[in-house]
Amino acid sequence: MLTTNLLLASLLPLIQAEETVLGVFIFHRHGDRTTKSYAPTTLTDLGYVQVHESGSFYRDRYVSSDASSKIYGLSTDVVKTSQLNVEAPVDTVLQNSASGFLQGLYPPVGATLGTQKLGNGSEVETPLGGYQLIPVNSLASASSSANSENTAWLQGSSGCGNAIVSSNNYFFSEPYLAKLNSTADFYRSIQPVVNGTFTSATNTFKNAYSVYDFVHVSVIHNQSSSIPSDDLLTQETLFQLQTLADVHEFNLAYNESDSIRAIAGSTLAAQIVENLNATITGNSKVPVAIQFGAYASFLSFFGLAQLPKVSENFTGVVDYASSMTFELVTNATVSNTSYPSVDDISVRFLFSNGSASENQLTAYPLFGQSEAVLPWKTFTEQMDKFAIGSQVTWCSKCGNSTGVCASADATTSGSPTSASPTSSPSGGGISKAVAGVIGAFVTLAVIFGLEALIMLVAGLRLVSKKRLSAGQVAEGASSPMAKA
Ligand SMILES: *[C@@H]1O[C@H](CO)[C@@H](O)[C@H](O)[C@H]1NC(C)=O
Ligand SMILES: *[C@@H]1O[C@H](CO)[C@@H](O)[C@H](O)[C@H]1NC(C)=O
Ligand SMILES: *[C@@H]1O[C@H](CO)[C@@H](O)[C@H](O)[C@H]1NC(C)=O
Ligand SMILES: *[C@@H]1O[C@H](CO)[C@@H](O)[C@H](O)[C@H]1NC(C)=O
Ligand SMILES: *[C@@H]1O[C@H](CO)[C@@H](O)[C@H](O)[C@H]1NC(C)=O
Ligand SMILES: *[C@@H]1O[C@H](CO)[C@@H](O)[C@H](O)[C@H]1NC(C)=O
Ligand SMILES: *[C@@H]1O[C@H](CO)[C@@H](O)[C@H](O)[C@H]1NC(C)=O
Ligand SMILES: *[C@@H]1O[C@H](CO)[C@@H](O)[C@H](O)[C@H]1NC(C)=O
Ligand SMILES: *[C@@H]1O[C@H](CO)[C@@H](O)[C@H](O)[C@H]1NC(C)=O
Ligand SMILES: *[C@@H]1O[C@H](CO)[C@@H](O)[C@H](O)[C@H]1NC(C)=O
Ligand SMILES: *[C@@H]1O[C@H](CO)[C@@H](O)[C@H](O)[C@H]1NC(C)=O
Repeated sequence: MLTTNLLLASLLPLIQAEETVLGVFIFHRHGDRTTKSYAPTTLTDLGYVQVHESGSFYRDRYVSSDASSKIYGLSTDVVKTSQLNVEAPVDTVLQNSASGFLQGLYPPVGATLGTQKLGNGSEVETPLGGYQLIPVNSLASASSSANSENTAWLQGSSGCGNAIVSSNNYFFSEPYLAKLNSTADFYRSIQPVVNGTFTSATNTFKNAYSVYDFVHVSVIHNQSSSIPSDDLLTQETLFQLQTLADVHEFNLAYNESDSIRAIAGSTLAAQIVENLNATITGNSKVPVAIQFGAYASFLSFFGLAQLPKVSENFTGVVDYASSMTFELVTNATVSNTSYPSVDDISVRFLFSNGSASENQLTAYPLFGQSEAVLPWKTFTEQMDKFAIGSQVTWCSKCGNSTGVCASADATTSGSPTSASPTSSPSGGGISKAVAGVIGAFVTLAVIFGLEALIMLVAGLRLVSKKRLSAGQVAEGASSPMAKA
């Protein structure tokens, strides 16, 4: 037995011409959905198809017995739920996208595999032709969860005081004001199309994403005869709407001189490293981690990882069902008696713009480096430069000291925190003028109530009354940092 093992081991390097994938982390956007202008936002059938096909694509790449890059030790047909860590925020569009994706990753197994024998000899077949149940763990919002160490990455981003202030600073910047001015005529020209939803006051660059989203969804789902003045929506106009939304969103998600704005990317980076680290330390016991999240997280991460240096494409909002994938790979021998050492493990970053079934999953170099495959040590060193993984760090970077941060603050300073207005963060780098304007907003908000607060402080964007009353946090959010 021992000699056969030794013989096999000595042959393996020769047999194993190809590298082994030890595990992956996939960050995925939801599929096609209804517009954010009218709550509740839901995943459409088209979106369901997109995420399902993406799941099938990843099955063909990583899971099935003849997969092109089979993940080491991963169950092929019948899912072992202990091998997967799937997470999505409390949000129907993202949760359902995760479920749809998993149906493609581990499809129904049919009657033969989907049948169990009971003690008394009778057999039970699972419903729906061997449909497999795979849990999607919820990421509660930072403000509603006491243990939000691994939740801040998406929801927490909207609750990060300094990030909200930073994003809002964009609305006072020279580039923004210039764009607002130079595009006024353009938005006015499409007013007839959006008139029922946006007024001439809200149909501006200030709401570039909302306007684009409304038109984009309408173009996909409405018959052109039902869109007023649809002849105005030429390819060029649609492209203009999209690129203006890109500029707007990228600037809210990332700013080179103000890293806290990219809090969504920082917390995501910590999640990526944490999950891949667990895969390595557990010898691939949990080789697959999948998170569903917002395009803002993609953009923040792209900025932090210096992907815009590779291509300006990385400053554009990613398409529905896009995914970015971090593969743990090795050329060393892998068996259940020999797991590669950390020095032999590398990370490959890949991205697919839209469902990976239709848009090639392509490797890109991170951090301004030239190689698309980086040694694990280099990868973690670079990620750690901007990753924010602990609640204490999150609270201090965000300048938050109340709510979930009250205890975090107490443990570091040893003093109880008060919720009085004077304890508000003295956010670094905010100009007095801007702080003053925000102060004024808060005062107004007290007068006009919550709606005004959300519109002015968090979003500066059009928010329909309907959506506010729905109280949505993630997918239907009005905050610039929480959009999906
Ligand atoms: C075997 O057990 C199951 C579950 O308790 C029961 O539903 C079934 O009727 C039993 N079959 C026989 C043949 O007793
Ligand atoms: C952090 O502070 C901001 C601004 O004070 C506040 O809006 C947000 O709700 C706080 N976040 C949490 C998680 O407490
Ligand atoms: C836009 O800028 C031009 C010149 O740069 C100026 O004349 C005009 O008043 C500005 N328009 C608005 C709406 O600010
Ligand atoms: C928009 O609608 C309002 C009232 O519903 C109407 O008065 C106005 O003329 C419309 N504007 C355009 C550009 O269609
Ligand atoms: C598309 O259809 C929806 C639902 O019927 C409607 O609310 C929306 O205004 C339409 N979009 C446009 C641009 O007309
Ligand atoms: C970064 O933000 C500052 C202040 O908000 C702004 O002046 C600057 O233009 C921004 N940089 C870029 C590249 O947009
Ligand atoms: C995983 O993380 C722990 C704690 O930060 C660290 O001690 C360990 O070296 C990491 N393992 C790898 C393989 O990077
Ligand atoms: C950027 O996008 C364009 C148009 O979709 C594409 O032709 C080009 O290959 C992309 N560049 C990179 C580096 O992905
Ligand atoms: C993804 O596609 C959109 C167009 O649909 C484009 O604006 C964006 O730049 C692309 N992103 C990347 C990274 O290729
Ligand atoms: C494995 O070897 C191949 C061929 O030499 C090389 O292209 C690839 O980058 C290597 N992979 C790793 C993870 O070192
Ligand atoms: C190694 O894995 C194979 C199948 O994956 C299994 O049959 C075998 O028992 C394992 N050996 C040890 C020593 O765990």
